Amino acid sequence: METSTENNLKIHTLIEQRWSPRAFSDRPVREEQLEALFEAARWAPSAMNEQPWRFIYATSDNRESFERLANCLVAGNSWAKNAAALFITVAKKSYDFNGNPNGHAWHDVGLATGNLLLQATDLGLHVHLMGGFDAAKAREVLGIPEGFEPVSMGAVGYVGEPESLPENLRERELAPRVRKPLNELVFKGHWEQK
Ligand SMILES: Cc1cc2nc3c(=O)[nH]c(=O)nc-3n(C[C@H](O)[C@H](O)[C@H](O)COP(=O)(O)O)c2cc1C
Repeated sequence: METSTENNLKIHTLIEQRWSPRAFSDRPVREEQLEALFEAARWAPSAMNEQPWRFIYATSDNRESFERLANCLVAGNSWAKNAAALFITVAKKSYDFNGNPNGHAWHDVGLATGNLLLQATDLGLHVHLMGGFDAAKAREVLGIPEGFEPVSMGAVGYVGEPESLPENLRERELAPRVRKPLNELVFKGHWEQK
């Protein structure tokens, strides 16, 4: 494993600076900022330009809709309830133009979400994505129709103090970010050819 600081290849600052905090400050996030995140997501590429991504979000000042989302999280992601906003990403499973299954839908929701993360970083915000949520519950309480599938949830806000977290999470918050080395992930011309 490598930490980001060990690698001296130059990558874009936005990519370098993005990370997933668990401690969020109580500073609110403005509606226009959230709109900019979804606007960035909207411009992602997608198979057949299907744009299979959908987003449902709620800000913490609207308790009822915020809690509807927050209550879908697994207990291990309870820290996310301190974020200024929560969202869920949803994939449309079939193509508009012929109704056939879209095997790229989740991929493309991921691309759109990646755009959203970088836009957030540019605005000084952080987003922490979560797969730990109850998709069936989300479908029910958020009214997600047949043909669409919840993909991930995200917590959005300004970074808070690690001290605000319980001990076990504080350690993880302060740990260096690690990644597999490039030569385990990338092959030239043939599988496992380094
Ligand atoms: C699809 C997806 C699901 C994730 N699920 C969770 C989760 O349920 N809880 C959590 O704390 N982090 C979750 N994460 C965050 C990852 O653990 C995190 O991105 C990874 O450890 C790399 O750290 P970094 O984002 O700070 O670079 C998830 C990330 C993604 C992309």
